[in-house]
Amino acid sequence: MKNSLHIYETPEEMGRAVAEMILAKAKEKNKLSLPFNIAVSGGNTPKFLFSLLADEYADSIPWHFVRLFWVDERCVPPTHPESNFGMTFETLLKQVPIHEANIFRMQGELNPEAEVLRYQDLLEKELPMENGFPQFDLVLLGMGDDGHTASIFPNNLSLFQSKLTVAMTVHPQSGQKRITLTGTTIQEALQVVFLITGASKSGVLRQIILQESTCESFPAFHVHSNTGVAEFYLDKAAASEL
Ligand code: 6PG
Repeated sequence: MKNSLHIYETPEEMGRAVAEMILAKAKEKNKLSLPFNIAVSGGNTPKFLFSLLADEYADSIPWHFVRLFWVDERCVPPTHPESNFGMTFETLLKQVPIHEANIFRMQGELNPEAEVLRYQDLLEKELPMENGFPQFDLVLLGMGDDGHTASIFPNNLSLFQSKLTVAMTVHPQSGQKRITLTGTTIQEALQVVFLITGASKSGVLRQIILQESTCESFPAFHVHSNTGVAEFYLDKAAASEL
């Protein structure tokens, strides 16, 4: 597996670099008249990207070619303050001309077991299949202080060998149920990009990037694209121990 590091002074500069990468990729797909299938994560870090896309890229990105999916979702209604869709709607979707028909949210308000099956079927219908898994053009991930990514927590490492596309997990601290792409689905993506900021991530990130003896205990260590590459877009604080 190969890690590609991109380090910026501030979270805002990191966000801008990711926005520019997305603009370039979206234009490439537009030229080919192909959809740009992106899966996004929740949490706070994506806000640096989403708010910039809303403020400065509403007119430049060919949004009519963008199809948006989720990496994971909390099992709450979309209006709940912890909803990943709700955060994405408020910071991005209501401000850019993406077609509603191209927004494929995980329905956190539904029975989790039923939603896992519904979303699995949806992905297999809406995306090209590769090695038996739906293939995204781009998966945007974050990383928790414990090295989790998506809603794959340290006790869910088997999801990197799963035959399933989507799974239900439980947050180890809060007990909150989650819907998440499995690690095997993420690893089929053509491109996997981590957005990680803040000093609280620096220790785990060091263990992962430097492949220290503890690295395999962190879900984020196991993530790569189908070409074996994981791209890390970091601010200086997160990269301070590298
Ligand atoms: C979620 C995310 C999760 C997130 C990390 C980092 O639903 O919370 O998908 O995997 O990316 O917890 O979160 P922050 O960006 O808030 O640090």
